[in-house]
Order: sequence, then structure tokens, then C-alpha cells
Amino acid sequence: MTEELEHYILRHIDPEPDNLARLNRDTHVNCLYANMCSGHLQGRLLKMFTRMIKPRRVLELGTFTGYSALCLAEGMDDTAELHSVEINDELQDFIESHFAESPMSDRMHLHVGDAQEIIPTLGDGWDLVFIDANKRNYIEYYKLIAPRVNPGGFIIADNTLWYGKVTDSSAHDAQTEGILRFNDYVAADDSVEKVMIPLRDGLTVIYKKPQTLAK
Ligand SMILES: C[S@@+](CC[C@H](N)C(=O)[O-])C[C@H]1O[C@@H](n2cnc3c(N)ncnc32)[C@H](O)[C@@H]1O
Repeated sequence: MTEELEHYILRHIDPEPDNLARLNRDTHVNCLYANMCSGHLQGRLLKMFTRMIKPRRVLELGTFTGYSALCLAEGMDDTAELHSVEINDELQDFIESHFAESPMSDRMHLHVGDAQEIIPTLGDGWDLVFIDANKRNYIEYYKLIAPRVNPGGFIIADNTLWYGKVTDSSAHDAQTEGILRFNDYVAADDSVEKVMIPLRDGLTVIYKKPQTLAK
């Protein structure tokens, strides 16, 4: 995607809400690796996906400063709730202060800790899960999450093209390996339908097929 095309797109989609523009600025001023923030285009897409899926329970792994969580929450209807897990406890006050500005704040729950420990404590019945935490552990998150997603539910995984390293045979770092293992595992999983979208750093959208009833 050229910069010119990206600017064109941003001028022709819904504008970035003020609270998210502020959060993006605060993130860039205060945080290392600010480019981890989903940003305007991916944020609007996450909101749109949430509108389309109409989930009752939404789970996010990897809150960072809260940008994607706020976008997911924006797309929720009045009864839905979002749980987001972040391992970096230094971000807690920052995240909570931005969650507090959202009209959905009472239905947005932050859990500080390791996703692999927290997932089993949050129960089942997820309709939408956004995986965006440690790239090395995507496959472990998936194995924990998939049985806890409702039939007909969705998992969206971010960064599945990992800066294009997925096709670079010289890339053997742990994060690239983690993404490669995850992509291969999902590709071979017949219990789901999947599509990869080459937006930003790659998004994989995964649909858990409803179980067929035994005869
Ligand atoms: C790419 S950032 C998330 C960006 C955010 N979802 C967004 O789009 O704005 C990844 C985050 O995952 C967190 N993380 C890494 N390992 C984790 C783990 N084991 N459990 C929970 N969070 C983790 C990191 O601290 C980081 O804040």
C-alpha cells in the first residue's frame, strides 16, 4: 500500500473519533513501540467486524494502550461485553484512563497478566476473539481459545504476515517462527474456515464452523 493510497482511504472512510486520535497521540508521546497501536484504518475495520458479527462476549489478547479494545467496544451492541488481557502492568493506569472515556466503559474489563493463565479463568462462550499478544505464543493462545469460542464465532489474528517475513526463508527469529507455526496450524484445522487479509501487517479471520449433529 502506498502512502498516497492510504491517505486516500483515510479521507474516504469514517473519521477517527476524537478519543482515539487523542489515545494515538498519547501512545506516541509516552510509549515505546507506539506503532503496535492498531491505528485509524484497522481500528475502523475492527469496529465494522464487530458490527457484522454482533458478538455478546468479546475477548482481546494484547491490549497495549487500548486502541483496538476501544474500536471493538465501539461496534458492540448494548448488551455485549469486552474483556482484554495485557501482561504489562505499567500500562494499566494509562489503559484504564482511556477506557473510562468510552460510553462502553462499564462493559470493558481489563485483566492484567499472562494471557495463557488468564484465558481459562474467563469462562467460555466467546463470539469474537482478537489475538494480538506475543507472536511466539499465537498457537498456544489458539489452542486455548478455539474450544472456548461458540460455534459460529470468530477469531481474528493480527500480524499474520509479520512484516512479510512469512515468505522470507532467511528469517528464523522466534516471532517469525511463532507466526509461521500458527498460520500452518490454522490452515490445517478443518474445524474452521479462514481467510487472510493483506491489510497493514496481515489479519487472519477465522470462523468456527457449527458442529454437525451426530446421526
Ligand atoms: C501488538 S501489541 C497490542 C496492540 C493493541 N491490540 C492494538 O491494536 O492497539 C501487543 C501487546 O501484547 C502484550 N503481551 C505480550 N505478551 C502477552 C501475554 N503473554 N499476555 C498478555 N499480553 C501480552 C504486550 O505487552 C503488548 O502490549
